[in-house]
Amino acid sequence: MFWFSWYSLSLFTPIVFTTPSSVSLLSLGIIDDGDDESFLASVLVENSSLGFSRNIFISLTCRFVSNISSSSIVFPLSICVYNLLIRFKISLWGGVLVALDIRGFRFSLDGISIRRCGIEDIGGVIGVNRRTLPENYSTSLFLAMLRRFRDIFFVAVDISQDSIIGYCMNKLEYNTKSFFAAKKVTKGHVFSIGVLHEYRRRGIASALMVVSLKHMFMLGASEIFLEVRVSNTPAQNLYNKFGFEVVMRVPRYYADGEDAYVMAVPRERIESLIDELYLRLRELGVLEE
Ligand code: ACO
Ligand code: ZN
Repeated sequence: MFWFSWYSLSLFTPIVFTTPSSVSLLSLGIIDDGDDESFLASVLVENSSLGFSRNIFISLTCRFVSNISSSSIVFPLSICVYNLLIRFKISLWGGVLVALDIRGFRFSLDGISIRRCGIEDIGGVIGVNRRTLPENYSTSLFLAMLRRFRDIFFVAVDISQDSIIGYCMNKLEYNTKSFFAAKKVTKGHVFSIGVLHEYRRRGIASALMVVSLKHMFMLGASEIFLEVRVSNTPAQNLYNKFGFEVVMRVPRYYADGEDAYVMAVPRERIESLIDELYLRLRELGVLEE
């Protein structure tokens, strides 16, 4: 049980109070500001009960009191904080008060690790590709992509099984026409992404996108694009969350005659979101580096 006398409590985004089914205390961090009795805490509360994700950032500037009788508000507030702890997933954010807008992203990645694809992973990647997509590229295409673009080829691993359960294979295209301005740019191309059925809706594809986009930006991409079947709403929803928009429709793009949407996003639009989400993934210990 923690005892707080409150200093301020501010809500950066509205809380939707429902009863979460799963709760866990993720981490607790305290900054000593030099005064023995006080500390600063900022709390990221993740409401785990909602079908859609909602992250609630509550910043608390708290004064730790060793002597309960020094404040009459301590008891009611401590009950309130205690309730928050057991009702929500809570993690403390390095003690710095920053408004964190994770814009609807929720990760549930226990037991999942994300790392670069190695040559020994190619069999696993091909297995996931065969089970998730009708576009089944040859082994030599995967190997060529790995050779040429190893820095931006990522896999998701189920740690307990030591097996590949998702991948995101990307390439860079230099000196090509921008979708957003009359100039030539370096584009990042999300070539193929897939996550095994039994691992979906946990944020694994989102996490793969975050690391892929982060590294494509680091390598100079100023926009990111991809093709997706016009009927593939789950994938389009995923890309919409990252700010992609349809910039073109390509008739009969796929071998079976289906059209493709080309979806793209300029770097300025999402770089700060990607940085925030990347930090969050680091904090969750998902990234193997
Ligand atoms: N229905 C509606 N929206 C969905 C669905 C779905 N079945 N699945 C994902 N989304 C959207 C949602 O907005 C979701 O956010 P939410 O869960 O908070 O609502 C968002 O995508 C992120 O979901 P993730 O959990 O990160 O995605 P997941 O790990 O489930 O993988 C993927 C999504 C890759 C599209 C997966 O369904 C898959 O492998 N599908 C088959 C292969 C495929 O279509 N790949 C993309 C082809 S295009 C290309 O490769 C460039
Ligand atoms: Zn493509």
